[in-house]
Order: sequence, then structure tokens, then C-alpha cells
Amino acid sequence: MLSYRHAFHAGNHADILKHFTLWLVLDYFNKKDKPYWYIDTHSGAGVYNLAGEQAQKVGEYRQGIALLRAASGLPETLQQFNACLKNLLPDENLYCGSPFLAAATLRESDKMRLFELHPADFELLQNNIREWKLGRRCIAKKENGYQGLITLLPPPTRRAVVLIDPPYEEKQDYERVVKTLKEAQKRFAEGCYIVWYPCLSREESRKLPQTLMKLSPENYLNAQLHVHAPRADGFGMHGSGMFVINPPYLLAKQLADTLPALCELLKQDNQARFELDYRIA
Ligand SMILES: C[S@@+](CC[C@H](N)C(=O)[O-])C[C@H]1O[C@@H](n2cnc3c(N)ncnc32)[C@H](O)[C@@H]1O
Repeated sequence: MLSYRHAFHAGNHADILKHFTLWLVLDYFNKKDKPYWYIDTHSGAGVYNLAGEQAQKVGEYRQGIALLRAASGLPETLQQFNACLKNLLPDENLYCGSPFLAAATLRESDKMRLFELHPADFELLQNNIREWKLGRRCIAKKENGYQGLITLLPPPTRRAVVLIDPPYEEKQDYERVVKTLKEAQKRFAEGCYIVWYPCLSREESRKLPQTLMKLSPENYLNAQLHVHAPRADGFGMHGSGMFVINPPYLLAKQLADTLPALCELLKQDNQARFELDYRIA
């Protein structure tokens, strides 16, 4: 079932946490000369029109990227990320998806491998990739990203950043993420795997970080940003998390320095809070 369209949610608080963390990881990978692969198992369309009907329906971006764009006095790395986004998309009506952010951050020697199953979003993604003029460095497939990831591992360069960002509209996505990571670790244990997940009242969502921790107990980072209290009826997403297996060693400090400001910026009530938990060998 493919009912999810990211255009309804683009630029929301969860995208800000996700894309900021991803940008920090890619920036770290750029510090070493050796090329790497960026693999995005659930790519989406690549770029989103915030003035379009879908984004305007609920206007989630108003409590995400719109606040970040208008912010001042941010900690240094958050300020740099903000400047990067403004430079990338000077038109305030546009917001980047993970593939575009990665395309703008990777170097000539690095490669991108993208997966997107939704036919309409895949077509948009392909059109966007053409505009980015990446040539053979970037290959996008209309295939299942969980299986696609496994076929690529280990990457020839033995360096890779993998983003796993499913919709979680089907509760099987929680199991698929764990199963895919177990298989991925067998083939390429050194990879940096980044999993985005929603913070919901439902059990699968609450348990996912603990399950992921067991996959890499000595080398992980888990960051959560809750923008409001869980709703009394148990519905809705009150925050989101980023779980990183084999995180760059700088990431914990970078997030510790910026999550308080990000939480203050994106909070929707006085129960907003963040969590940062890590173990880096
Ligand atoms: C949360 S969105 C991705 C957003 C994107 N990563 C970003 O940050 O801009 C999830 C996407 O996964 C796609 N999708 C769902 N199941 C998939 C699967 N098994 N393989 C590949 N793509 C899938 C959906 O169509 C949707 O576009």
C-alpha cells in the first residue's frame, strides 16, 4: 500500500531533525578523502513545493523550516545548516528532500544510490535528478529500498552512509527496518546506518530504539525531539527520532550543543523536550 506522500509533511519538525543530523554525518564523511556511497532507501521526490496544495493542506512546514529560516542567534552548526539550506534553495517556497541535500553535500568522487517505490514520487525524483546533473554518480530505482540496500552491500569503497526513512504507515515497517539492518550488518558491519522513526504512543514506535540499540550496543546514537506532549487520545506524532549505528564520533557533541536550541525553536507546548543517548566505541 503506497498512500503516503511526503509532500504533505515536507519541512516539518521531523524533517528538520532528520536533515540536520544527516547533514552533520555527511559533512563528517567529507572530511576524509576516501570516497563513499550515500544510499537512501526511501528517497521521496527530492524537492517539495511548500506553496503547493499538499504542503498547504495542513501547513506542517510552518512549524518546521519556516521557523528555522526566520531564526537568529542559533548555535554555530545549526546556523551553518540554516545557511546551507538557504543557499541551496533561495526560493522560500521550496524545501529539500534527503536526496537533494545529499546531492548538494557529496563530493564529485562520492556516489548516490536512491530507491523510491511510489510511481508519482519516483517520476518527480527522476526529473529532479536530471536537473542536478549528477550523471552516472547517481542511480535511482523504482524498487523496494529494503531489498535494494542489501543488494548494494558492501559498497566497493567500503565507506557508506545509509538513510532508512520509511513512512511507518504500515506497522510492518518497524520489523522491516530491524530485519534489513540485521542483514545489512552481516554484509557490511562498518556502515553508518541512520534510521528515522516517529515518536508515537503506539508500542512499536516506543520499542524501536531499544530494539535498534541491541543491534549495535557499543556504537550507536539516539536523538529524539518531542515538540509537544503526547495527545490524550494516543494519536498523532508528538516527535521523532534519529537512530545512528556507527555514528561519527563528533555527532554526539554537535547534537548536545544544538538540540536545546532546536527544541526551543520547534516546541509547540511546554512539554517539548529532547533526548540524546549514545555510546561511541
Ligand atoms: C518519509 S518519505 C521519504 C522522505 C525522504 N527520505 C526525505 O527525507 O526527503 C518515505 C518515502 O518512502 C516511499 N516508500 C514507501 N515504501 C517504500 C519501499 N519499500 N521502498 C522504497 N520506497 C518506499 C514512499 O513512497 C515515500 O516517498
